[in-house]
Amino acid sequence: MNYLDKLIKRDEIDRYYRDGRDFIDDEAICAELEANKNPDPQRIRDILQKSLAIQTLSGAETAALLAVEDPELLAEMADTALKIKHKVYDNRIVTFAPMYISSYCINRCRYCGFSADNHREKRQCLTMEEITREAEAMIRVGHKRVMAVYGEHPMTGARFIADSLARIYEGRVQARRGVCNVRRVNVNAAPMSIDDLKIVHEAGIGTFQVFQETYSHKIYREMHPQDTVKGDYGWRVTCMHRAFDAGIDDVGLGVLFGLNPNWKYEVAAMCTHARELERFVGIGPHTFSVPRMHSASGSDVANAKNSFTDDDFAKAVCVLRLSVPYTGLIVTARETKELRDRCLKLGITQMDAGTRIDIGGYSAGNKEQKIDEQQFLLGDSRSLEQMIVDLAKGGTITSFCTAGYRCGRTGGCIMDALKTGREGTFCKINAVLTFREWLDDFASPESIAACTPVIEKELAEIKEMYPKFFPQVQKRYEQICSGERDLFF
Ligand code: 5AD
Repeated sequence: MNYLDKLIKRDEIDRYYRDGRDFIDDEAICAELEANKNPDPQRIRDILQKSLAIQTLSGAETAALLAVEDPELLAEMADTALKIKHKVYDNRIVTFAPMYISSYCINRCRYCGFSADNHREKRQCLTMEEITREAEAMIRVGHKRVMAVYGEHPMTGARFIADSLARIYEGRVQARRGVCNVRRVNVNAAPMSIDDLKIVHEAGIGTFQVFQETYSHKIYREMHPQDTVKGDYGWRVTCMHRAFDAGIDDVGLGVLFGLNPNWKYEVAAMCTHARELERFVGIGPHTFSVPRMHSASGSDVANAKNSFTDDDFAKAVCVLRLSVPYTGLIVTARETKELRDRCLKLGITQMDAGTRIDIGGYSAGNKEQKIDEQQFLLGDSRSLEQMIVDLAKGGTITSFCTAGYRCGRTGGCIMDALKTGREGTFCKINAVLTFREWLDDFASPESIAACTPVIEKELAEIKEMYPKFFPQVQKRYEQICSGERDLFF
């Protein structure tokens, strides 16, 4: 049996199919986009009310939003998107940073610098010792949430991923006031079998991310050679079903924008995937990611100009926010500060910062990006501290909260809490506590001064909203100020 047949378990695809096919029906999605092409303004306003009530939209409703061109209606959509963000996620941005662990890959995706066909790429896989060192380099600038990223290779299978997670969790650094560590590791890796997903789950992961890249079966085939593991659309698109069956109840979906000129199809299809997960287990995705293709070593596809503009990007973000209102939305450092600022007003919830995507880049202290040593090029090179200060100046608090994961508030539990606004209480308080820790451990006096108004405003709001509970909050806040760490609700 070759590697491909050993890895892909046909019965772990077929069991999630209906009538012998997967749940993404390209023709039906295209027909829905076509049928909703000229939406009546009143219908759009009714749809916005449904989004505001934190209800997942139907395919037809998402299609109608995607068709809006009228500037006035677009402005109403943007306003509603931000209102929803505030209702569900308040005034916070959660931050994280990716740790690229290995660039060895058996796939040959045409847009990716890690393609096995790309002989210019300098391959590297961190050893367990290097992983701890890399984690500590990340902790040293204040990261607490890590997204571990792996190419697909026999060397970096489920056991390796599990061992590497343990190494990341092991890292400890004495910061200015407290001892710091990584509190949550999310994973971005290849689709796995249920048994392998159980191994990764038991190692203690946060969100499990697999991006479909494109939901178009045709473009998927063109971008991913059929004799590779990734060439199997069905293995990838059913991966989250397997994740749930393996006990992972927190998953992240994504599309690589720029691959399909018909980007509206991709937004509609990713929402279809979200609704399919809701149908399957009653839990939608915890996050949507919207990576867009950027220059990559050895890739004609990535280095050619694609038609997906910043305006398209912003509209995609807005429609995703409105279509699955409870879901987190991640815009990474692939994009420029300007575009990320624009997306902040459309309801994104997570941003990475101080990002290095070369293998071992944090411990090497590299400053420059080198195209042959990473997967693609980044657009926002701000340090974590710079981004935090920029956000604070705009009135946004950066949260390092990881409490939900450690109190069992995940999956269906967190989804219900988000939909009804209950999770907001804990998140709001934990944001203040973790932000205080970060400021005291890592920020310069100027940054502390710039961030103080935000923290004071949050504390005042907590006091007003939860007067009875406030003394307990204040007590923990004071404990943090005096150097205790990792206290949360
Ligand atoms: N530009 C931006 N993102 C890319 N990815 C792969 N190649 C590129 C590129 N050239 C994305 C894919 C993959 C994720 C880890 O990075 O969506 O799933």
